[in-house]
Amino acid sequence: MLEETACSGEMNGLKDRHSFGGAWTLLKLAVLENYLSAFTVALKNQNFRLVYVDAFAGTGRCDVKMAGSTTTVDGSARIALQVNPPFDHCCFMELAPKKLAALQSLATEYSDRSIEIIHGDANSALRDLCGKFDWRNTRAVLFLDPYGLHVEWATLQAIADTKAIDVWYLFPYSGLYRQAAKKAENIDPEKEAAITRILGTDDWRKKFYEPEKQLSIFGDEGETRAASHSQMLKYVSERLKGVFPAVSEPKIFCQSTGAPLFALYFAASNPSPRAFGLAIKIAKGVINAL
Ligand SMILES: C[S@@+](CC[C@H](N)C(=O)[O-])C[C@H]1O[C@@H](n2cnc3c(N)ncnc32)[C@H](O)[C@@H]1O
Repeated sequence: MLEETACSGEMNGLKDRHSFGGAWTLLKLAVLENYLSAFTVALKNQNFRLVYVDAFAGTGRCDVKMAGSTTTVDGSARIALQVNPPFDHCCFMELAPKKLAALQSLATEYSDRSIEIIHGDANSALRDLCGKFDWRNTRAVLFLDPYGLHVEWATLQAIADTKAIDVWYLFPYSGLYRQAAKKAENIDPEKEAAITRILGTDDWRKKFYEPEKQLSIFGDEGETRAASHSQMLKYVSERLKGVFPAVSEPKIFCQSTGAPLFALYFAASNPSPRAFGLAIKIAKGVINAL
């Protein structure tokens, strides 16, 4: 369901074809577009260099499959380039070599703009970027739009430490839920490490699991996942609030069954109440407008 489908576009010469997502894809992009526009308007008369960072940039286009048909829309990278007033600098990070050609074409299309394309893992690229800018005179918006459990906690900490980056994070809740198996004994070490990496602690084991009421047939006392979706999401929110000075209530995108798929969070890293107050107000406005 969340998987990227085969990129048939490469065969017919359309290098920017990128199929993924569903209805939530259009909603998250609408939120991003509206926030970016409000952000550059709000800061246009201040003396900051404005930077947009797309850590999971894709190709700049999305082929979104909904109700049996496919709609092609601008992806986050292209949306960011169209914002007016424009960002002073855009930084696109992407791991898949095949998507880089599309990003290079996008940069050629916008050759009058300052665009940086980084090929590599978003975590190391972001940690480098956090140390690279002078955050006293730079303000940035970062979009974290991974397919799965890819954003490491240490990366979020580095972002918060800049005190200058606003973050939209499409948290892959269904990925977390799938990896946190119903019976704790079924969580293999790799899955356990992946969950700990995205939540920054192994405390989730205590929060999500309880001892089973009955002993197993071997007489062992196992543990079972007892936390509800809303308790697990609340835990994710609390973790984010532990590192960012201000975090919005997430917008939850659900499957047709009602099960949550993604939680779209906004987090501000500027500790000034005036700065994060304004950022959260704009973020709430764009979420409520959906
Ligand atoms: C959901 S798509 C992003 C879509 C994009 N935001 C848009 O709106 O068009 C996720 C992207 O992340 C890339 N990716 C996966 N793992 C990555 C990693 N560790 N670092 C950077 N990019 C990664 C994938 O190749 C894919 O293009």
